[in-house]
Amino acid sequence: GRGPRVLSGIQPTADSFHLGNYLGALRSWVRMQADHDAFYCVVDLHAITVAQDPALLRERTRVSAAQLLALGIDPDASTLFVQSHVPEHAQLSWVLECLAGFGEAGRMTQFKDKSARQDADHISVGLFTYPVLQAADILLYQANQVPVGEDQRQHLELTRNLAQRFNSRYGDTFTVPSAHIPKEAAKIQDLQDPSAKMSKSQPSGVVDLLEDPKRSAKKIRSAVTDNEREIRYDPEQKAGVSNLLAIHSALTGRTIDELVAEFDGSGYGDLKKAVGEAFVEFAVPFQEKVHGYLADPAELDKVLARGAEHAREVATETLRVTYERVGF
Ligand code: ADP
Ligand code: NA
Repeated sequence: GRGPRVLSGIQPTADSFHLGNYLGALRSWVRMQADHDAFYCVVDLHAITVAQDPALLRERTRVSAAQLLALGIDPDASTLFVQSHVPEHAQLSWVLECLAGFGEAGRMTQFKDKSARQDADHISVGLFTYPVLQAADILLYQANQVPVGEDQRQHLELTRNLAQRFNSRYGDTFTVPSAHIPKEAAKIQDLQDPSAKMSKSQPSGVVDLLEDPKRSAKKIRSAVTDNEREIRYDPEQKAGVSNLLAIHSALTGRTIDELVAEFDGSGYGDLKKAVGEAFVEFAVPFQEKVHGYLADPAELDKVLARGAEHAREVATETLRVTYERVGF
């Protein structure tokens, strides 16, 4: 594809992507294909910062790729690949680790949050250096833009600092990427605790894209709202209702204002039912497509091999220049 180069990755650490992943990130991946030179990867190297069962990791990597294809990632318009198929990620990462400060890496709030609750001997060094591998993912492809949510801003800042540091020490080598905030990205809240974001770490309020859609509709119908009766968009005061409106709007393309007008005078039950139906309408054909991709493993392998081959064309050149500048 043409346009600015964009890089984004997603971890294969769950059986299914969830509605937050889709409406907050993956939907933008699909949109960006049209006017970006997009590189999208299933980041299985990142997944093993915490222990993974090998067979399950392999399966989830494939199911992740199948979901991306089913959502509309077009392997002819974008470069879709699996991170471990491109060894240059790990090879560049080492150089960047040697450039990053220990204190600098130690200031990453995501690491501090994730490690705070655990004994130091149960936290891998990989979890600590994770943002440096992320920097390698981005810099390897000379990405101009990286779509980021609020939680990833600090990691992108580290990537920019490492690129600038390398460039000033060894000569201009890496494109310094900027943050891209996709217009349509929605932040989806947990259905049972709408003050928290929907996350796989809190399964009760999550809608998985691959679960039985009837079960999803039921979960949506039992979403936590509030004791009023008024359907209005106010994420502070009415987090549950606002979340339902946001999901409905994102799934159907209708504006929040249109929906508020339509549901004026209706009960919360009507809104929940409509959101459930909108989800089922999305999920049924989506799941059919996923199963179609998974039913033809040879074809899926071929698509991913082609993606890795194209990714490596770019990655090997960046790594060659980098290693030469370093003195290898
Ligand atoms: P989780 O929070 O379930 O562990 P990840 O951290 O793996 O999900 O997120 C993968 C992508 O999905 C990221 O780009 C992240 O910003 C996005 N994402 C995750 N949860 C949500 C959410 N509730 N709303 C919007 N985007 C989300
Ligand atoms: Na493209």
